[in-house]
Amino acid sequence: MPILVTGATGQIGTILTRSLREIYGTDQVIASDIRRPINATGPFVMLDILNVQRIYEIVEDHNITEIYHLAAILSANGEWNPEKTWNINLNGLLSILELARVKKIKKVFFPSTIAVFGKTTPRKPTGQDVPILPETVYGMSKAAGEMWCHYYHQRYGLDVRCLRYPGIIGHDSDAGGGTTDYAVEIFHEALSQGAYTCFLAENTRLPMMYMDDAMRATIELMQRPSKEIKLRHGYNVAGFSMSPGDLAAEITKHIPHFEIKYKPDFRQAIAESWSEEIDDQQAQEDWGWKAKFDLELMTADMIEKLSFEL
Ligand code: SER
Repeated sequence: MPILVTGATGQIGTILTRSLREIYGTDQVIASDIRRPINATGPFVMLDILNVQRIYEIVEDHNITEIYHLAAILSANGEWNPEKTWNINLNGLLSILELARVKKIKKVFFPSTIAVFGKTTPRKPTGQDVPILPETVYGMSKAAGEMWCHYYHQRYGLDVRCLRYPGIIGHDSDAGGGTTDYAVEIFHEALSQGAYTCFLAENTRLPMMYMDDAMRATIELMQRPSKEIKLRHGYNVAGFSMSPGDLAAEITKHIPHFEIKYKPDFRQAIAESWSEEIDDQQAQEDWGWKAKFDLELMTADMIEKLSFEL
């Protein structure tokens, strides 16, 4: 069952590739990206997601039967070049979906996000089927992507599965170009400098999830029988909600001299247009999703793992 992971050197891709290799075997998981991994854990191929011919070659050469399509530009970086972001995020997905149809790929995973929500969306809690009017090109591309996934399932029977990830926090890979990146950076700075200047305001609450839970959500969703997966656009999945102030207070329990300053930049407006709290009842009902990590457990684990690594 060779699996292809695109965007495999990103924050989620790095860990997902490793998790899939632990389950299915190192050689069964082909990692791909435009950047080489710093520490490769198995087979890797260079892939620019806009090079459609190359995607076909890789899929044929490795007899790929499943694709986890993670390659994308995130919310904050996306705003510097909207057209490029749309091209990579949406046209990249369309190439994968069309290839999956033509090549009869058995399963496709597409990560969506809380960035699909906008100012017209109820924020607290945010239900599954709510009005969406995203404020960023990243959110627009993921909202459109969700609809394309739904369409390919309805029209062609493609087995495509999709989660709306909250901000993801992990110790083993760097976040890059997102609005929730502060929640990873803060740990590195707290441990190395004892201080952090946050680009979001103190009380900006956002939905977050620990990497372990994000991996489990992804793998559990992908392993369930197809008939249980009733939604083919993005399932809401909740971890916990927190503000930078909540996180700083929790970190201070472990590092008493930790100091935080707030200097909100353009990412503040992006964060304010998103959800505060996710209602994931449908994921719970359809495929039994339940997060394990809350703010306290996540913080303790991050500090323990990063202290060990430093
Ligand atoms: N973590 C992402 C971002 O901040 C949201 O999906 O862009």
